[in-house]
Amino acid sequence: MRLRLTILTLAACVAACENTVPLRSATADNDVAAAPAAPTLLGDAERGKTRSAELYCDACHGVNGNSETSVWPSLAGQNARYLVRQMELLRAGARPSPEMQPIAATLSDEDIADLAAHYAAQVPIAPQEAPDETAKAGEALYQKGDPARALPACASCHGASGEGNPATGDPAVRGQQPDYSILALEAYANRTRYAQAKMTGPENENLNIMYEVASKLTPAEIRSVAAYMRIMR
Ligand code: HEC
Ligand code: HEC
Repeated sequence: MRLRLTILTLAACVAACENTVPLRSATADNDVAAAPAAPTLLGDAERGKTRSAELYCDACHGVNGNSETSVWPSLAGQNARYLVRQMELLRAGARPSPEMQPIAATLSDEDIADLAAHYAAQVPIAPQEAPDETAKAGEALYQKGDPARALPACASCHGASGEGNPATGDPAVRGQQPDYSILALEAYANRTRYAQAKMTGPENENLNIMYEVASKLTPAEIRSVAAYMRIMR
């Protein structure tokens, strides 16, 4: 309840204060960090399931959020904190998307919290494939980075199995549709993922690292790391 109120207060402030305040305050950060492990506590997963059916989310994101369309992201098992933040950014138009923004614009704060709880609780399905040469090249880069180019290991934030970090909101990347991952990495590299080329504020520290990381990757590396993330589980 306290968290829900905090989110509502913040959302009101975001609307009223425009970009003068960060989307999340330190209070919300602490609340999330202090919450017990289950991300479903953030919202009502049952209501989220009903809303996802009413709003046809799975028409694009796949049954229970396991996308079957390569350019559309899977949401199943994504951490709630990341999902909430992205829905807020999509709703505000800060993350432009012709497909998503009209839908996001209709979501209430309660919808966002409940939909996030629903998708966080779904089981991600990745293809059971042994890595081919492309994915193997991606594995080395993902797990170790490249110290010679000051490229950090992707695993240091996204987890050794691509499971992400629910406490910090670093997204899960395992099982993700490869073309979506490629588009996402290109958008970071070109700084077109968000309407603003530079995001400021402490909550965007890792985002700014993502800009740097992605801009150091070659097109071949982007393809291989996307192929590897697809088969991670
Ligand atoms: C018409 C297709 C479509 C529908 C319907 C749709 N989405 Fe999306 N959604 C997308 C696309 C495309 C993106 C990726 C946007 C981009 O990166 O440009 C996306 C992105 C997202 C993201 C961010 C994912 C990430 O990994 O960053 C979330 C969360 C999301 N959608 C939730 C929902 C929810 C919840 C619903 C239902 C209320 C919904 N979407 C309905 C197409 C759709
Ligand atoms: C310092 C931590 C950090 C490192 C290192 C890092 N990432 Fe990220 N990554 C993030 C964060 C945080 C986000 C979400 C940023 C945002 O809000 O848009 C993200 C987003 C992404 C996304 C988009 C996810 C989605 O659903 O839209 C992909 C793909 C990704 N990272 C891949 C990688 C790869 C590949 C590497 C290694 C080459 C890497 N990341 C290294 C923190 C990191």
